[in-house]
Amino acid sequence: MIQSSAPAKVYLFGEHAVVYGEPAVAAAVDLRARVQLEERGDSRIRVEARNLDSTATIDHDGDLEGVDPFLRYVFGAAKSAGARGLNVTTDSDIPVGSGLGSSAAVTVATIHAASRHAGLELSREEIASLAHGVERDVQGSASPTDTYVSTMGGVNVVETGRNRFEQVDTGSLDLVAGDTGETGATGELVEMVGDMSERFPSVRHVIKTIGEVSRDGLEALESGDTESVGVLMDVNHGLLEALGVSTPRLSSMVHSARTGGASGAKITGAGGGGCIVALGSGRSIESAIEEAGGEALPLSLDRQGVVSG
Ligand code: PMV
Repeated sequence: MIQSSAPAKVYLFGEHAVVYGEPAVAAAVDLRARVQLEERGDSRIRVEARNLDSTATIDHDGDLEGVDPFLRYVFGAAKSAGARGLNVTTDSDIPVGSGLGSSAAVTVATIHAASRHAGLELSREEIASLAHGVERDVQGSASPTDTYVSTMGGVNVVETGRNRFEQVDTGSLDLVAGDTGETGATGELVEMVGDMSERFPSVRHVIKTIGEVSRDGLEALESGDTESVGVLMDVNHGLLEALGVSTPRLSSMVHSARTGGASGAKITGAGGGGCIVALGSGRSIESAIEEAGGEALPLSLDRQGVVSG
């Protein structure tokens, strides 16, 4: 039996602006999606997502219409690595649809496992690139951030405008995510920001300013200046508020986490629901998030990325 797993991610800086070629900084964190492969006697592919209680079977060249969206990532990933005749079982600690990159993690883990099963020795760059293709096919558009970070592990800067994909040398990071339990519609939010930026040059400046904040944030992370990282996360959150992607619950969780002692806090991901991420650790930040109606998930940096087992 072949097994692989890959981590979740949070955006420390730069979501939305990354769509316009600005830099984003995102960290792999210690929640994982796991994939197991077993051969079956025919050429079909069966996917069982244990965390979702959902199963489907298709011909290896069959189409995915009507298949549960989450399973589509797994089928797409298995097919992109040339799989046929496999039972694929997935399980995950990562809340689905929460902006923590659950679909990227399961896609990356499936490509890693299926390519090993097929005897292909893919580099990490190749895995990240195939996984990005699968995300684009399934969801229409997606920046390469989630799939890259989940493949590589650690803190990464992604700047498609300069074809820059780099790991950032940082010390350990203590974070707490706060999950609203609500799902944000990433595609709609990206489109809404796009419409606003076409109408208003000032909104284009907000997007560019987020890019500047990411650059400052990167410098602060590299020099181990946690206080500045926190301040800049707060600034980034304010700019995301300006783009209209926050919700009352996200905003209230962000403010509550800061009051609870976080050095900084912001939305992570598209917004409209999903999660916040707060810099710091400890019960006081966690209870502040819970008081504002969220589920607190203490996180630390994952440095491994996708691995066997
Ligand atoms: O909510 P998530 O984790 O899928 O992140 C979306 C991030 C955006 O920048 C808004 C879109 C993208 O594809 O990068």
